Amino acid sequence: MKIDLILGLQWGDEGKGKIVDVLTNNYDIIARFQGGPNAGHTLEFDEIKHVLHTIPSGIFHDKKINVIGNGVVIDPVIFKKEIDTLKNLGVDVSSKLFVSRKAHLIFPTHRLIDQASELSKGKKKIGSTLKGIGPTYMDKTGRNGFRVGELEIDGWENKLNNLISKHERLIKNFNVDINYNIDELKDEFLDALKFLKSLTLIDSEHYFHTSLKSNKKILAEGAQGSLLDIDFGTYPYVTSSNTTSAGACTGLGIPPNKIGNVYGIFKAYTTRVGSGPFPTELFDETGERIGKIGHEFGATTGRARRCGWLDLVSLKHSINVNGVTELIMMKGDVLSGLEKLKICTKYRYKNEIIEHLPFTIDDSSLEPIYEEIEGWNEDITQIDNYHDLPDNFKKYVTFLEKNLELEIKIVSVGPNRKQTIIR
Ligand code: GDP
Ligand code: IMO
Ligand code: MG
Repeated sequence: MKIDLILGLQWGDEGKGKIVDVLTNNYDIIARFQGGPNAGHTLEFDEIKHVLHTIPSGIFHDKKINVIGNGVVIDPVIFKKEIDTLKNLGVDVSSKLFVSRKAHLIFPTHRLIDQASELSKGKKKIGSTLKGIGPTYMDKTGRNGFRVGELEIDGWENKLNNLISKHERLIKNFNVDINYNIDELKDEFLDALKFLKSLTLIDSEHYFHTSLKSNKKILAEGAQGSLLDIDFGTYPYVTSSNTTSAGACTGLGIPPNKIGNVYGIFKAYTTRVGSGPFPTELFDETGERIGKIGHEFGATTGRARRCGWLDLVSLKHSINVNGVTELIMMKGDVLSGLEKLKICTKYRYKNEIIEHLPFTIDDSSLEPIYEEIEGWNEDITQIDNYHDLPDNFKKYVTFLEKNLELEIKIVSVGPNRKQTIIR
């Protein structure tokens, strides 16, 4: 048995939550492998619209196990609130949510360092979600981190206090104005840690190995997107983890030869939230229209997402880095009513035509080259069969499949679970 992956191919918010929820029926276990509550994964079904931050998107299904892998960073305070909200919706997570002992904890002081770091950067700020992601991964790779399993070892309070004191000294060094009450933050944190300790903590890599041996089907749910990957994204305007398929290996303890299908998910256009380069960004009425119709506001921070045309150069980069085997296209419905659609197929870079992502794309010497195709007028949100979609929609899909040399197996035509066409 192998494990399948779902990965965002753009700058996040491609619709991963919705598709993981749809595909959960085919799996026994859903696992998050990186990122933390910087993620916001939206699910819509029946009368429920729900945003998940740390918990995998299979949680609404009965008899499915959801695992938070070792590569994830957990903010116990946010995590507790997330579970409380689910309880209020009638979802009992106790029997179907497992947490890796090797996952690292986000301290309240990590959030403060994130804030101080962004303030100190001024105009060059990353546009972080301020959830403490970068500082927590820094402590992890700097070998100063605090892992969930440490809560089971006597004396953990000392280590916790030492780390907090160290963080406070760091915050002072930034020389920026941040107000906080450490005692209040600590109380809230300790309370949430007590709750976290009461959940099912597991040696997750061992759990995955034995599950695969007993033929359990596992789906790994990516957070963020490939262009936010710490190595292959638009550095430094990225997140602090490997969002690409290799991240699933290290973030779950799964060897590469146990990876099966790699589902690459993308929007029919492009969005980005936060700072950083975006070659096909639109600053006109079309961009505004896409943002409005697509409700392009961050699920975690509420910030307006920047919108632009689809960029096949960066999509190919993501497909190659991840080894994508099948594509999933989201939000085609948002483009209905646009007379012409532009698709970036190449870049002009330093007077050369290139078809790959150069070292940096924030250079003013880079210009996207577009091909234009006819749009469609019809509302497609109620269509449930691929053949009934407008001809020009299907031409858009065929154009992409030809250029990307992969099949688009699922098209999503609305936010609801039901608005999903599997070909
Ligand atoms: P994620 O982070 O990749 O899970 O994506 P988000 O939840 O942050 O953002 C995707 C947004 O688009 C959410 O508001 C979804 O409800 C919505 N959505 C998902 N698929 C579709 C679709 O096919 N059409 C439309 N109109 N909205 C969609
Ligand atoms: P999902 O899983 C979109 C962006 C932030 C910022 C940069 C770094 O919902 O797709 P961080 O808080 O990680 O230090 O922020 O990455 N970012 C996301 N953008 N979707 C996300 O997650 C994101 N998580 C982080 O806006 O530009
Ligand atoms: Mg999101």
